[in-house]
Amino acid sequence: MAYTIRTFGDPVLKAQAAKVTDIDGKIARLVDDMFDTLYTSDSGIGLAAPQIGVQKQIFVWDMDDEPMVIFNPEIVESSGEWVYDEGCLSIPGLYVEMLRPNEVLMRGVDIDGNTIEIEASELAGRLFQHEIDHLNGVLMFDRMTPEQRKEALAEYRRLVDQAPAPATSPKRRLRLK
Ligand code: NI
Repeated sequence: MAYTIRTFGDPVLKAQAAKVTDIDGKIARLVDDMFDTLYTSDSGIGLAAPQIGVQKQIFVWDMDDEPMVIFNPEIVESSGEWVYDEGCLSIPGLYVEMLRPNEVLMRGVDIDGNTIEIEASELAGRLFQHEIDHLNGVLMFDRMTPEQRKEALAEYRRLVDQAPAPATSPKRRLRLK
């Protein structure tokens, strides 16, 4: 079942997510729901649990038709620098060139409860850093320089003002009556 993706301004996106202590059937269903939600988006390749309002340290990703999930992830090593036009499903429509480390080593727990480590760079490395930020209540805006943030917030407000209301929103339904 797909959830609605929480967007910028929702306090859940600013909260620290809790560690997952028990990977049970309930968590497995939540992971399925996270994939359903990710696949409702056109361009998303990753989704963190807080983005559907769940304050747990989980994120899913799918870069090459290969659904992946990790629990309690952290970046344990990083190096290099890479500039990438970064976007976020919770800040729809906004892309900002951001500098972050290029190579990362991520450690976390897989669905079977095993500790795993994944090395990544470029797009995957960026994805991991971005999703782990979500689990710590950090959004792209928090990673920007003050000038970038000012410009990006103004751009995002323009995008929000221009976006048509979804057809199912109460506002639109009222207007049709
Ligand atoms: Ni995001």
